[in-house]
Amino acid sequence: MRVLIRDSAADVAGCGADLIEARLAARPAAVLGLATGATPLALYRELAARARAGRVSFSDVTTFNLDEYLGLDGAHPQSYRAYMDREFFAHVDIDIARTHVPAGNAGNARRAAVEYDRRIADAGGIDLQLLGIGRNGHIGFNEPYSSLSSRTRVKTLSANTIADNARFFADGEYQPHLAITVGIGTILDAREVLLLATGEAKAAAVRDMIEGPVAARCPASALQLHAHVTVVIDDAAASALDDPEFFRHIEREDRALGD
Ligand code: F6R
Repeated sequence: MRVLIRDSAADVAGCGADLIEARLAARPAAVLGLATGATPLALYRELAARARAGRVSFSDVTTFNLDEYLGLDGAHPQSYRAYMDREFFAHVDIDIARTHVPAGNAGNARRAAVEYDRRIADAGGIDLQLLGIGRNGHIGFNEPYSSLSSRTRVKTLSANTIADNARFFADGEYQPHLAITVGIGTILDAREVLLLATGEAKAAAVRDMIEGPVAARCPASALQLHAHVTVVIDDAAASALDDPEFFRHIEREDRALGD
């Protein structure tokens, strides 16, 4: 796991954008796995600015989002489809037909989940999977005690996650308790993973992901089993690590080696 510690959330977004820009320069028709939530918003804004400046293009890119609330169709403003259209796809030169979000309104959600994994495989698999992390260590909507080899499926959200996301729903508005999420096994199949985390609220989960044992208690700890993961965090999210200086030292050494 390569751990890059930055001074601020803005620097985390810039660092993530640098990595994505470099990967798309090498492979313009890459398949990206994308995330929603608060963390990647600054990254999406930065990528959109770079697209406008002609530094990066999404015209040949295919995307698969991690998850979607069950019971919301894509027109619902809190659906992750609406989020992606509003926050990212509308601002870059992507072909919307090549963007995929699990179908929250599928008649048969279990079948739709299996079909989603098949579509990822048909597209050649995910080249680069972008992730955030929940305060309880979830990735996608794989809550603690999810199977570390799980595939895309229907999951029940934890009480913590429902409470964390309640801020996005109006008082009295229906808030889903179920989601379709890409599985941890599906995430581990990606050829590369980029996880961003900012803020002190994520510090314990970041510590468990990086330093903790690989355990279902912290689903993100499964990333320790992946050979090509970059974690970009700000000082606040790094604040519970035993030895953040170790990672800064490694980054300086890597830079000296020209990595
Ligand atoms: C979103 C997702 C979630 C979020 C996580 C962190 O598609 O899969 O795992 O990445 O809940 O959310 P924020 O960034 O809002 O703290």
